[in-house]
Amino acid sequence: MSQRGAEDMDDAVRDRLDAVIHGEPPAKVPELVKAVLIESMRSGTLTVPESFRTARADTYARRLLHRDPSGQYTMVVMTWGPGQKTALHDHAGIWCVECVVDGNMEVAQYDLTSEQGGAFRFEQRTRVVAGRGSAGCLIPPFEYHTLANAADTPSITLHVYGGEMDHCHVFEPAADGSYRRVLKTLSYHE
Ligand SMILES: [Fe+2]
Repeated sequence: MSQRGAEDMDDAVRDRLDAVIHGEPPAKVPELVKAVLIESMRSGTLTVPESFRTARADTYARRLLHRDPSGQYTMVVMTWGPGQKTALHDHAGIWCVECVVDGNMEVAQYDLTSEQGGAFRFEQRTRVVAGRGSAGCLIPPFEYHTLANAADTPSITLHVYGGEMDHCHVFEPAADGSYRRVLKTLSYHE
C-alpha cells in the first residue's frame, strides 16, 4: 500500500480523503474531495514531499503519492517545468480533482461537440489561470481539458483520481480543425 514518499505527507489529508471517498455517496465525492484539498491548502496541511518537486527536462513529471489499498482512488503529483503542457485529453471516464500546490497553471476545459468517422470536434468552454490553492473537478462526461504551466518557474499540481488512470486518450489536431483520438498509456516517474 505504501508508496515512496507517501509517509512524508500529512496523514490528516489522506484520512479525510479516505472518509469522503469510502463513506459518502459517489455523486457527492468529487465536490467533497475538492473541499478537502482547498481547506488543506489553506490550513497548510497539504504538503508535497521534496523528492516530488523536481521537474524533468523531457516532460512534466507524474509521480504516484498514494494508492488507496481498496483501489478507490490514487493521488498523483505532477511537476511542470516552464513551458510544459498536456495535449487535449480525456480522463478515461474517471473523475478527477486537481489542485494547484505551487505556481500557476493555465487550465482550458473543452466540450466534445461531435464525433463522426473518427473526427472529434471540440469547443473550448473556459480558460483560466489557476493559482496556488485553487482546485477544480473533472467529472465525466465533462472530462476534456488541457493543462499548461503558466509560470516561468516549476509549478506543482496534486490530482486525486477516482481509481487509477493508467491510460487516457489524447486528441491530435487534424488539418480540418477536428481531432483524431489516440490511446496514451500512462505511467509514473521515479
Ligand atoms: Fe487531465
